[in-house]
Amino acid sequence: MKRILLIGLGAGDPSGMTLQAIEAIRAAEVFFLMEKEGEGKSDLIAFRQAALKRARGDGGYRLVSAVSPERPSGGPDYRAGIEWWRGERRRIFREMIETELSGDGTGAFLIVGDPSLYDGTVEILHELTAEGLRFEFEVVPGITSLQLLAAGHRIALNRIGEDIRVMTARQLSAAALKDVTNALVMLDGRAAFRRFAGTDLHIWWGAYLGMPEEILVAGPLREKAEEIAAIIERERARRGWIMDTYLLRRP
Ligand SMILES: C[S@@+](CC[C@H](N)C(=O)[O-])C[C@H]1O[C@@H](n2cnc3c(N)ncnc32)[C@H](O)[C@@H]1O
Repeated sequence: MKRILLIGLGAGDPSGMTLQAIEAIRAAEVFFLMEKEGEGKSDLIAFRQAALKRARGDGGYRLVSAVSPERPSGGPDYRAGIEWWRGERRRIFREMIETELSGDGTGAFLIVGDPSLYDGTVEILHELTAEGLRFEFEVVPGITSLQLLAAGHRIALNRIGEDIRVMTARQLSAAALKDVTNALVMLDGRAAFRRFAGTDLHIWWGAYLGMPEEILVAGPLREKAEEIAAIIERERARRGWIMDTYLLRRP
């Protein structure tokens, strides 16, 4: 039976890979890479290559890459667009597994951070098995960017008895202040926190976490919002992309 490993690499730097992830990388003969067009593309490829080099310096594996279709970012037909995008990705995955993996071969997908957090690969693999494609798969967890954020700032993500909510910047843009106790925001890069700059929330912000160029800023949002927004603008102009995540907390 074909076997697929979904390997969480950790975020930022390959030194954050677990021993389990390294062993899983060593067990695979082919790696399926979905390359995204646009922001941060070359850095993400470089990150995966660095992880492979660290775990499989001797080579001896195959790389099969496909260009991931661009995810629709909005518009009146947003839901239909997302359905199309998911279908396309499923089709590409199916083709790679069917044609590039031998009958009892092991293939792997390398996921930034952990496969359970804002990554659709695990869902696609379930959908493909439901469609009748025959393979077994395992998930190897990785350190998420949220954990790097907490470690970088030396904080716990919640205080005693409080909830933690993980949300996208799009959701933050629609959230009410009362919904924010400990809100972890991902997929931003456009300073969505600014809408709460007049409140007494605190922010713990991090960009390029785990990388040599990591930036950390923390403090009352009222004082830090513009400073962080300026850093985002500057870094976006300098590198062409930014990856940031942050905690917003009620005092
Ligand atoms: C598609 S999600 C993937 C999350 C990933 N699976 C994880 O476990 O962290 C991408 C978002 O994760 C966050 N992220 C991932 N890597 C990051 C890093 N090194 N520094 C800061 N944020 C990061 C950013 O919010 C980015 O927009």
